[in-house]
Amino acid sequence: MLDAGLGRGIVPDAALRIGSRYGAHWRERHESRGGVEEQEARLKALLHRMTTGPIAEVPEKANEQHYELPAEFLGIVLGPRRKYSGCLWEPGTTTLRQAEEDMLDLTCKRAGVRDGMRILDLGCGWGSLSLWLAERYPNARITGVSNSHGQREWIEAQARERGFTNLEIITADVNDFAPQAGEFDRVMSIEMFEHMRNWQELIRRISTWLKDDGKLFVHVFSHRTLPYLFESTWAAERFFTAGLMPSHDLMTRFQRDLQLEDRWVVNGTHYAKTLVAWLAQLDARAEEALALLQSQGRTRRQAQVLLGGWRLFLLSTDEIWRYQQGDRWLVSHYLLGKRG
Ligand SMILES: C[S@@+](CC[C@H](N)C(=O)[O-])C[C@H]1O[C@@H](n2cnc3c(N)ncnc32)[C@H](O)[C@@H]1O
Repeated sequence: MLDAGLGRGIVPDAALRIGSRYGAHWRERHESRGGVEEQEARLKALLHRMTTGPIAEVPEKANEQHYELPAEFLGIVLGPRRKYSGCLWEPGTTTLRQAEEDMLDLTCKRAGVRDGMRILDLGCGWGSLSLWLAERYPNARITGVSNSHGQREWIEAQARERGFTNLEIITADVNDFAPQAGEFDRVMSIEMFEHMRNWQELIRRISTWLKDDGKLFVHVFSHRTLPYLFESTWAAERFFTAGLMPSHDLMTRFQRDLQLEDRWVVNGTHYAKTLVAWLAQLDARAEEALALLQSQGRTRRQAQVLLGGWRLFLLSTDEIWRYQQGDRWLVSHYLLGKRG
């Protein structure tokens, strides 16, 4: 029903926005249900799930849903650096290009990146951070990892075109990725931990990949107080199967193998503005996006349904991150180092 309506474009955006705001309100009430004792019991159950089992569950689903879409499609939606994660809108910033670069710059500052370092970009997407590091830190050696061949091919082509020789991209599922012990000065991961389930095991493995003075920098989207799994909702099934909404505090529970040294929040309105910019680009080039999706063997109707789904995804997440002036859904940054 919803898909058909979205595909035909007959559901007004105003109605989708009202529904999404209600969804944000519902989510907070739902995750707070039963008062403090039930909330604590749910947190314990979540922590149990995040300390047992595989690092990532059903990784092939995330690929289908986002990461093996044609690079050209994401090229329409995303900014020039194809940063598929929250950007930073300083006062006076009017372009997605600037917002991408300002967040990349802040990320490197907070991670303490210096030229000459050995750096791993874990969950590298279409190379926004890997290519930025290769460009800004010419003596650094960068390895980017993701489970998408399409992403690797795109980044490699960019690196060739721009003459970067300090960057290698590996296609691997995080569940299986095993670099040398003690190899990296920095492991940086931007909006990949939300796809991961067993954070404890992932952080344990990362701790072995780091040099003694190495650090892990993590950027996740988050809720201020309520962590939850994406289950049985439209967004969970279409866009984020086995995904997780961390709370800002959740990382403090995973300090067995690495120690939290600093953390920061970015108000949600920065993400909302990023989503508005992505939606505006998709709308401005909708015909091109439809033709691209059809060229992959979809009928026009199927392409319209997919595009309608993307519009709802961008529009509803915009509403969620701007909810209550961006003080509820946020972006969280963490810096972790070795114990002792
Ligand atoms: C939201 S994107 C972020 C991309 C990039 N860090 C950025 O900021 O533009 C998440 C990334 O994590 C990768 N990813 C998700 N699950 C993965 C898994 N199981 N193994 C390896 N990479 C994974 C995706 O392919 C994608 O590159």
